[in-house]
Amino acid sequence: MNHKLELRNVTKTFSTEEGEMMALEDINIEVKPNEFLCIIGPSGCGKTTLLRMIAGLDYPSSGEIILDGDRVSGPSPDRGMVFQEFSLFPWRTVIKNVTFGLEILEVDKHEQYRIAERYRELVGLKGFENRYPYELSGGMKQRVAIARALATDPAILLMDEPFGSVDAQTRNILQEELLEIWKRTKKTVLFVTHSVDEAVYLADRVAVMSARPGCLVKCLDNAIPRPRKRTSVEVNEFRENLLMLLSLERSKACI
Ligand SMILES: Nc1ncnc2c1ncn2[C@@H]1O[C@H](COP(=O)(O)OP(=O)(O)O)[C@@H](O)[C@H]1O
Ligand SMILES: [Mg+2]
Repeated sequence: MNHKLELRNVTKTFSTEEGEMMALEDINIEVKPNEFLCIIGPSGCGKTTLLRMIAGLDYPSSGEIILDGDRVSGPSPDRGMVFQEFSLFPWRTVIKNVTFGLEILEVDKHEQYRIAERYRELVGLKGFENRYPYELSGGMKQRVAIARALATDPAILLMDEPFGSVDAQTRNILQEELLEIWKRTKKTVLFVTHSVDEAVYLADRVAVMSARPGCLVKCLDNAIPRPRKRTSVEVNEFRENLLMLLSLERSKACI
């Protein structure tokens, strides 16, 4: 796959009771095909807004989002989203959650189940096909959400703090599984997080955002060879750099 995503001068303002509020200001970034890009920044800096616009669920106030030369103008199966909060359909079983996008695309029923099976297996959900979301742990729910997002074979996987609500150990396991899926499916991944550790462990490149209005402060290449060791000297050094940048941004925001 060879999909190129570009954000050009993307600005977003919201109308609120107190007037116009600028959430994102002049974001420019080019995401390379198959790249694993982490976006990190303080709470409220516009990370979710940014992903929602790339997904086509919202639109920029000015500037444009270009995918393979075309302006993004709405949702499409070429961009799959995994949301921050568990966002499964509670009335659907695991397998019916995974087939959701395929139903919309009117894929043949047999084919739907064949594809859903493949992704269910890929995310390690054996034996849970006919369970409902309320019967699953947080980690399991996010596995289903990932399988659902992958089922339509999107070029770009948009993930909004997907592991933010699971315990630390499950989070580590899910990170490793996601890297495996990324390696096997060759997707471009945009992964929003506010965890420095997570960004260092996962990313090819880390985009650092400032507090409101969210601007892109810096993009750092993360060339640490994979598989990465969470406690290696290189990982620690990169973590230090990121922490320094973020604390600099925080202190600016307070002035
Ligand atoms: N639909 C909306 N209407 C008004 N303000 C919004 C809306 N969505 C987000 N915001 C505001 O925009 C800012 C960025 O929000 P968000 O993208 O959720 O940040 P993050 O995901 O980085 O925490 C916040 O101040 C939030 O309150
Ligand atoms: Mg958010």
